Amino acid sequence: MASTEHVARQVEALNALGDVDLATLGQLVADSGWNQTADDWALFATQGSIYVVRDADRRIVASGAVLPMGAKAAWISMVLVTPGARGQGVGRQVFAHCLEVVRQSGRTAMLDATPAGEALYRQFDFSPLWRLTRWQRAAQPATSPALHRESIDLDALAALDADALGFARRAVLEDLADREGSRLLRRANGFAIVRAGRIAHQIGPLLATSEAAAAALLGDAAARLAGPVFVDVPDDRPALREWLAGAGFTTQRSFARMAAGADAPEGQRSFIHAIAGPEFG
Ligand SMILES: CC(C)(COP(=O)(O)OP(=O)(O)OC[C@H]1O[C@@H](n2cnc3c(N)ncnc32)[C@H](O)[C@@H]1OP(=O)(O)O)[C@@H](O)C(=O)NCCC(=O)NCCS
Repeated sequence: MASTEHVARQVEALNALGDVDLATLGQLVADSGWNQTADDWALFATQGSIYVVRDADRRIVASGAVLPMGAKAAWISMVLVTPGARGQGVGRQVFAHCLEVVRQSGRTAMLDATPAGEALYRQFDFSPLWRLTRWQRAAQPATSPALHRESIDLDALAALDADALGFARRAVLEDLADREGSRLLRRANGFAIVRAGRIAHQIGPLLATSEAAAAALLGDAAARLAGPVFVDVPDDRPALREWLAGAGFTTQRSFARMAAGADAPEGQRSFIHAIAGPEFG
């Protein structure tokens, strides 16, 4: 890593999502093979804050986002540096800024890190709580009727979700669930949200009382989707992993759920079989 030529650049808040900036942020996402859409950037802009670093031509070269989740926790997301600007200290700078914003708010900073991100965040005293893997399934013809919008009591779902996570994020769930392309599945022993991503449907959060219930719900959802599917599953779910492999899912990349300090909120993690996504927890 070329760390000898670090350039101190200004980190600035992105207060309005203009078309040019949105296109550049979309390119940052595409450069890393990530799945976020303009809807996701809009969620960060309305419920949290987006920070960027620009080059001499005012073009965005790095991003980071902070998303408060209730009074206890805040997620740091979207730490992305354009490939040509990596290794010059920009990622560290934008991340340090996001972390300071979280600390000023009195919340615990949490995130889901890629391996490259994990190396950086460890230097800020973040440590892994648990690990997860993105599983993907290629596009294939749907074998069941398409998902329709089920009528769901979002308050009840948000309460379950808060119990599982140890912090509340009703507004985030509502944003994900209310999108035109989103579908909610409610079964006796679990629920899931399916939303449209840049390159694949994302299934999550998926909360269920057991791995078998989670696999059944996942199978039901996946059979009704024709496009590629991503699902981010905690690694300590052996039965679900076995089901995923048998259903034609392959592993794409790994993440570490990390928190700074020792006071990360604790929920009933056994219910979480897929997270909403590394950007949302
Ligand atoms: C991870 C990323 C944001 C780092 O940005 P960057 O500007 O290249 O990082 P910096 O130059 O500020 O380096 C900071 C530290 O991060 C670590 N680091 C950065 N990239 C790394 C990599 N690919 N592998 C291992 N460590 C890495 C190094 O420890 C580095 O410290 P050093 O300079 O003392 O060696 C950037 O590589 C990126 O956008 N990657 C793709 C998206 C991604 O994975 N983002 C993290 C999401 S959690």
